[in-house]
Amino acid sequence: MTSREPVPAIGAPLALPSGLVLKNRLVKAAMSDSLGDGAGDPTEAQIRLYERWAAGGAALSLIGEVQVDPRYPEKPGNLVLGPEVDMGLVARLAAAGDSHDSHVWPQLGHAGALAHGAISQPAGPSALDLDELRCAGLAEAAVAALPMAYAAAATRAKAAGFSGVQIHAGHGFLLSQFLSPLFNRRTDQWGGSIEARTQIVLAIIRQIRAEVGPEFAVAIKINSSDQLEGGLTEADALVAVEMIGRESIDLIDISGGTYFPGAAASSDRATRGPYFLDFARKARAVTDTPLMVTGGFKTRHEASDVVRQGDTDLVGLARAMVVDPALPERWLGGGANVDPRFPRFASTPPGGVTAWYTMRLTDLAEGDESKTNRSLEEALEEYEARDAARVDTWNRRFS
Ligand SMILES: Cc1cc2nc3c(=O)[nH]c(=O)nc-3n(C[C@H](O)[C@H](O)[C@H](O)COP(=O)(O)O)c2cc1C
Repeated sequence: MTSREPVPAIGAPLALPSGLVLKNRLVKAAMSDSLGDGAGDPTEAQIRLYERWAAGGAALSLIGEVQVDPRYPEKPGNLVLGPEVDMGLVARLAAAGDSHDSHVWPQLGHAGALAHGAISQPAGPSALDLDELRCAGLAEAAVAALPMAYAAAATRAKAAGFSGVQIHAGHGFLLSQFLSPLFNRRTDQWGGSIEARTQIVLAIIRQIRAEVGPEFAVAIKINSSDQLEGGLTEADALVAVEMIGRESIDLIDISGGTYFPGAAASSDRATRGPYFLDFARKARAVTDTPLMVTGGFKTRHEASDVVRQGDTDLVGLARAMVVDPALPERWLGGGANVDPRFPRFASTPPGGVTAWYTMRLTDLAEGDESKTNRSLEEALEEYEARDAARVDTWNRRFS
């Protein structure tokens, strides 16, 4: 951005196909905040955190990993948009995130083969018995029931006051597993070519749209590739983007990597610069659907450049919005020294960076950032102990 620009590209509003207008181009990307109460309901701390992001100027915040089926959660701190949910609390969360002319949408998740073992019997598109991962395969009837499960969760989201949802089809969780030949070895209508592997995603989009109507935003997060040998390739991901773009969808959020044990996860990555821009440029050529790119944005210059050049419509910010929850306001204010100061870590045990950022989310939600100088090892310990302490609560509620 230059000082001569009257309205920086990232400050311009964006109208989505469903009619919803986002006030600027900066989105708090989906993060599993682990701030649920351990029984699938929101907490006061979580409500405060989404109010804080709304006040900080984000056009939209995505609540990571809101489960459509309590049998396959990513973590015991997830929310669950099932029939048991406390709709009063969910409505307060929606209202908090919608304040300050901002929006908040739940990201509809189902962890499939990567469901949290202590509270789940993981099942993906196909049974796997690998060194790193063992899971059952979903029966055909269970796959056929998925569109209704996602649509029921989206309907609850709408009833609670959210203005949209994001379908999570990235990072190695269930729908990402369907897209990936590494996980999806099915020989029925849901497996085989990339066109066949994408069918369940299309069926879910159509069922959600049929239930929520035309004026509710429906977005999707998808991998540009799994970055795994034998996983989803860029060429196949582009075919999936093109197919998804022909549906009634508002936004395609591009990411990459997986939480497959030992693999590269975007939230643990430390390379410089936006990660998935090349793919976004290719996606532009195959779809007119608005695009968001998430991963690796650290400076206002990077964010402004990609929007101004038309590579993406929206910029997704995860860790930057944990370091500074008021970053959009700062970037749009146009002052100097507005970029976040990211922490540097001496050693990086696997999962440590994600655990550190998750624990800082708790600090922000509780308004106590004094603990933020914990090491990655300390963060991992706190994070894992909290999850372990929630297992009984979750199992009592849902088993
Ligand atoms: C603590 C944490 C939790 C995350 N949870 C989710 C999630 O629930 N859903 C999701 O799509 N991505 C999740 N991510 C990934 C981010 O949305 C994003 O794709 C990734 O962190 C790269 O973006 P960044 O460089 O801006 O952090 C998470 C990231 C972090 C740091």
